[in-house]
Amino acid sequence: MKRVGILNSGGDCSGLNAVIASAVKTGHALGYELVGFLKGWEGILDPMMYRALTPESVRGISHLGGTILGTVNHGRFGAKQGAGDSRRIPAEILKAAADNLKKIEIDGLIVIGGDGTLSGAVQLQEHGVKIVGVPKTIDNDLMLTARTFGFSTAVQVVVDALDRIHTTATSHERVIFVETMGRHTGWIAFRAGLAGGAHAILVPEFEFKVADLVEFLRQRQAMYRSSVIVVAEGARVGASEVYQKAEAEREIKLGGIGNHLMNMVEAMAPGEFEMRNTVLGHIQRGGTPTAADRVVAKAYGCEAMKAYHRGEYGTVVAYVNQHMVTVPIEACTGALKEVTSDSLEYVTARDLGVFVH
Ligand code: F6P
Repeated sequence: MKRVGILNSGGDCSGLNAVIASAVKTGHALGYELVGFLKGWEGILDPMMYRALTPESVRGISHLGGTILGTVNHGRFGAKQGAGDSRRIPAEILKAAADNLKKIEIDGLIVIGGDGTLSGAVQLQEHGVKIVGVPKTIDNDLMLTARTFGFSTAVQVVVDALDRIHTTATSHERVIFVETMGRHTGWIAFRAGLAGGAHAILVPEFEFKVADLVEFLRQRQAMYRSSVIVVAEGARVGASEVYQKAEAEREIKLGGIGNHLMNMVEAMAPGEFEMRNTVLGHIQRGGTPTAADRVVAKAYGCEAMKAYHRGEYGTVVAYVNQHMVTVPIEACTGALKEVTSDSLEYVTARDLGVFVH
């Protein structure tokens, strides 16, 4: 019986457990023995960390947030530093990983991850490891796949928050900034902002002038007395993102754009608006997946195992035209899918008078 390993790496997101459970059930039915590596790529390096995965052991996990395998978004396999930049993983690390897999007779891997993880997978393949990937990011910004699991849940969390923010903003006649996730792209901010009735949506893809925002707020406050602004964490005022921490060989820890903007608005219009800032942070990544995310996650898990069985190594599963297909891993990494001025969310927000830049 062939042994196939499953690993997830990078930030967690809702639906990961559903992918794992579905891959295990499908793999078992196809006659494979499944092994789960713990803490991402670290699990295949010394000291190896893994556990057997059986249909029995994954029963009842699909509706749970997080991942039963644990995860890290840094470590010896770190292949990603920023948008589009990938780093060569040292050859000795890749070789050690490939040798370890051989030692425990792993035939190949199902790798669930985002741009960084999949860039690592491409490099491990060069050492003879058979890989089928599953794209993972709550930001929904990977190329060639229309939907990643976790995105719908994150959007729903933001929409629920906006429904609450509106009532308090109205009661107090305030301007409230709501900072969402979205490192390089503003899909969560745009989709949730549109669904949740935000009055301004600010994202990394579109430059905006704070002076224009102030003017927009003046007009709104005169008529409606309150405003809600959704801002993606990666949105920029000027050249660089607002961040909390920058460490070598790790992606910078974003956060603070909402507060920063609030201070800039105050500096330009002292005392004109009463403002507050809410950072939604990791609640967007945790907890129960929505029905939409469960369905897509289950489909990803099943299809990844079927693609492995068909021998389609070096591919990732992609959701295209409501179907699961496979595309070369490289096609999913490197460039990101951005919000553009002809995206449905952008066009609709614009039509409705939302300040978008
Ligand atoms: O890439 C997904 C993402 O949710 C980004 O939007 C965010 O910047 C990042 O992960 C945060 O990850 P962590 O806090 O786990 O380092």
